[in-house]
Amino acid sequence: MKDIIDIVGAHVELQKKEQDIVHLTVHQFAESLGNAIDAKDACTSSHSEDVAVISQAIGVQMGLTSDRCKALHIAGHLHDIGKIGIPDSILKKKGSLTDEEYEVVKLHPVTGAEIVGPVTVFSGDNGIAKMILHHHERFDGKGYPAGLKGNDIPFGSRIIAVADTLSAMMQDRPYRKAIAFEHVLGEIKWCSGTQLDPTVVKAFMKISDKVGKYLSDMRTLNEDDLIAHIKTV
Ligand SMILES: [Fe+2]
Ligand SMILES: [Fe+2]
Repeated sequence: MKDIIDIVGAHVELQKKEQDIVHLTVHQFAESLGNAIDAKDACTSSHSEDVAVISQAIGVQMGLTSDRCKALHIAGHLHDIGKIGIPDSILKKKGSLTDEEYEVVKLHPVTGAEIVGPVTVFSGDNGIAKMILHHHERFDGKGYPAGLKGNDIPFGSRIIAVADTLSAMMQDRPYRKAIAFEHVLGEIKWCSGTQLDPTVVKAFMKISDKVGKYLSDMRTLNEDDLIAHIKTV
């Protein structure tokens, strides 16, 4: 009897190891693709990585399961992958975009969801493909591509939207300089209930000092420390 228990135990252990390896590989591919899109746009180096880490941190703070937090991290790496379809003349344009050019930029969530479409583990209503597709929806329904409103927007997309807004404001763009973290916090609060989900903003504010530390030049907290810190508070 003990032999059977040992064999079953060893099998479960092996399955877990295999799952961990699959997850690690998916994560590494997501990170590589995120790096590719960040490399295309010099203004946004480390943007995808930051969105991955901050989204996961918010998920942990909100008490989501470990699997959903890992999915948020992967979706963060991949959220802007559709920008690969935007011509450099638009993506890197200095100065404001024309209406036509902005329409091209607005296609990137749809393109991104199509790019990851063949990956079946990314499918489903709360899957990574849907998080990518809806990361530019606004809580008040004025976003794109579908104009979804409130809780109709996938939860993961609402979390990514907060991390994305934060990271984007803190980086130089062709049309403006980076905004300091303290001012960005004010902007995020200002956007609560209009652009961003208030419950997600509230959760983010509770960990904002740790996220600020993570994003600071010193990076006094690394990614794992940040997540561990949030789990213990
Ligand atoms: Fe990562
Ligand atoms: Fe985006």
